[in-house]
Amino acid sequence: ENDILSKLPLKGKKVLLTAGPTYEAIDPVRFVGNHSSGKMGFAIAKAAANLGAEVLLISGPSHQQIQHSLVKRIDVISAEEMYEVAHQHYNQVDIAILSAAVADYKPKNVATQKIKKKDTALEIELSPTKDILASLGKIKKNQFLMGFALETNNEIVNAKSKLERKNLDAIVLNSLQDKGAGFATDTNKITIIDKDLNEKSFELKSKVEVAKDIMNEIVNMINA
Ligand code: CTP
Ligand code: CA
Repeated sequence: ENDILSKLPLKGKKVLLTAGPTYEAIDPVRFVGNHSSGKMGFAIAKAAANLGAEVLLISGPSHQQIQHSLVKRIDVISAEEMYEVAHQHYNQVDIAILSAAVADYKPKNVATQKIKKKDTALEIELSPTKDILASLGKIKKNQFLMGFALETNNEIVNAKSKLERKNLDAIVLNSLQDKGAGFATDTNKITIIDKDLNEKSFELKSKVEVAKDIMNEIVNMINA
């Protein structure tokens, strides 16, 4: 019996997870987006469910698939939709992990008809999206809140400042300087920083293995 408990340390816990990119509409056929595949987030969903957690996976447009009785998937397209769904469920969860590559900007005006081409330059004005993670940090009660940081320079300093600014319990730093880390790859190299600013760096591994490391660290942190 002890054995079962130690293998399912998140049994009875609810996890909210965001994953994938968001698409911000320009007109009915075009959008502003990014290269996130959703691989990392979907791997975390599976790793969390394998530890016994009930997972709500809020996914932007992604070709990833997941089949697990403990994972419920809600598909969204834009940052605004992801924000709404995340806030609808945040109060009911124990752990929130925001791995999505949310667009920072969206077209200020969405054309209702397809924009026709012209010979002149086209300017699209962008306005900021809402920061889902920062918003959840502001209203945090007992949830364990984890964010991600994608950095190309000054990585540790930037990640720590995100952790503090957004009121997180931990942040996963993804450095794009590391070969084999990032969007399109099957591997990733991370550093996890906790709220006391302790850093723990991991080797380059498959995203499936990285996801297990992340979930194990969360289990350790919530039981500490
Ligand atoms: N995030 C979010 N909502 C946004 C933007 C980001 O929830 N509108 C979350 C991401 O899911 C990630 C964290 O915030 O967990 C950090 O994202 P990142 O792009 O690294 O940082 P930003 O705060 O957006 O700052 P910048 O892009 O300028 O580095
Ligand atoms: Ca960003």
